[in-house]
Amino acid sequence: MRISVIGCGYLGAVHAACMAKLGHEVVGIDVDELKIHTLSAALAPFFEPGFDELLKDVQEPGRLSFSTDISAASGSSVHFICVGTPQKEGENGADLSHVDAAMEALLPHVKPGDIVVGKSTVPVGTASRLAEILATGAPGAHLVWNPEFLREGHALEDTLSPDRLVYGVADGSEDHAAVSVLDEVYAAPLSTGTPRLVTDHPTAELVKAAANSFLATKISFINAMADVCEAAGADVTRLADAIGLDDRIGRKFLSAGIGFGGGCLPKDIRAFMARAGELGADQALTFLREVDSINMRRRSRVVELTRELCGGSLLGHRITVLGAAFKPESDDVRDSPALSIAAQLQLQGAVVTVTDPKALENAARRFPELRYEADLDTAIAGADTLLLLTEWQQYKELDPFEVSSGVAGLRILDGRNVLDAAKWRSAGWHYRGLGRP
Ligand code: UDX
Repeated sequence: MRISVIGCGYLGAVHAACMAKLGHEVVGIDVDELKIHTLSAALAPFFEPGFDELLKDVQEPGRLSFSTDISAASGSSVHFICVGTPQKEGENGADLSHVDAAMEALLPHVKPGDIVVGKSTVPVGTASRLAEILATGAPGAHLVWNPEFLREGHALEDTLSPDRLVYGVADGSEDHAAVSVLDEVYAAPLSTGTPRLVTDHPTAELVKAAANSFLATKISFINAMADVCEAAGADVTRLADAIGLDDRIGRKFLSAGIGFGGGCLPKDIRAFMARAGELGADQALTFLREVDSINMRRRSRVVELTRELCGGSLLGHRITVLGAAFKPESDDVRDSPALSIAAQLQLQGAVVTVTDPKALENAARRFPELRYEADLDTAIAGADTLLLLTEWQQYKELDPFEVSSGVAGLRILDGRNVLDAAKWRSAGWHYRGLGRP
């Protein structure tokens, strides 16, 4: 099929390449010239495992091209809208200006029978509003809401073989004309048994908001348990193992630590609360305010614990922060708890060095006042205290005996509870986890 993908950020670029991998002829369109130039050269504008290789793989046979010109969408029968919906400045709600602009620009290039497929995360009600615009501007075309659930670091596998596909169509019916078109787009994952649910527009939009809210709640729940464990002298990692064995609960997303960050969960739960307020259902989501507060408190808690670890004062203390990305296998630093903690420690007088295998360039753009060092040994050399804040494999594998020789002090705070506490202690380290004795 001929497919256009409007918006080539994280979601759109990956989606475009994966659709080409599924055998379609795809054009990715974005107003950002640099991004299009980079993607056209088969180079990924961000780090995502396997993405560079995939771009080359699908561009060589000519199945994927990129353009800054929206008229390139003209020949396609399926148009995916994948633009960003950031948090509005100074407000909790989502900024829909990119979605609206994409729709407006696309309209003249949509033919009767085409489908316009929204993938961006939007407040409930957006799809129905866009469907009306489409009905007026491009009669005979259909609007589908098809939320995206990809995780950074696993974006390719999540797009090529998702856990489920959700199609939100105007009447919520399996017989809607757009359903069979989208089935053809996703023929490959559907043929391997990927479940597919057809819903109405608002349900499809809410599936995404509800899924992210549930995940955020799970993380904040275990982080709240970490506080109780700390007060009671218990171990939250063993607690999570034990409750996670109940398959109604499950162990995933029960890793206590410095909390969630990134370009999605924090902004999505806030936008969800804001939208519920507009709909008069704000009471239903007041718990998300607590989820958000628990999450943000993790960052100040880590600063306090670090101060304790440093003997009561941060002033002049040399701290090396291992990890800047909001999670491993990503160079994304949007709302990264690791960076936010590093910046707070620096503001309170510590001398902070940050290292990360992939995210230093992005980190330096966001917090230029911090010191960055790409080489792990150099970053650690002479440190009084280490903070492991993003659980990259190479940090999880650090040998406490080897590391001892380079540092000035044997103190480590394990912000992700991924190190073997007993091993580090036996090597003479003062080890501190979160919610662990
Ligand atoms: C998330 C959703 O998982 C995905 O479905 C949606 O499409 C976009 O938002 P992503 O932002 O890539 O994906 O990251 P995710 O893997 O969900 O992690 C989010 C944050 O939670 C990270 O900062 C991670 O470190 C943190 N986290 C995750 C925890 O602190 N504990 C956990 O147990 C799991």
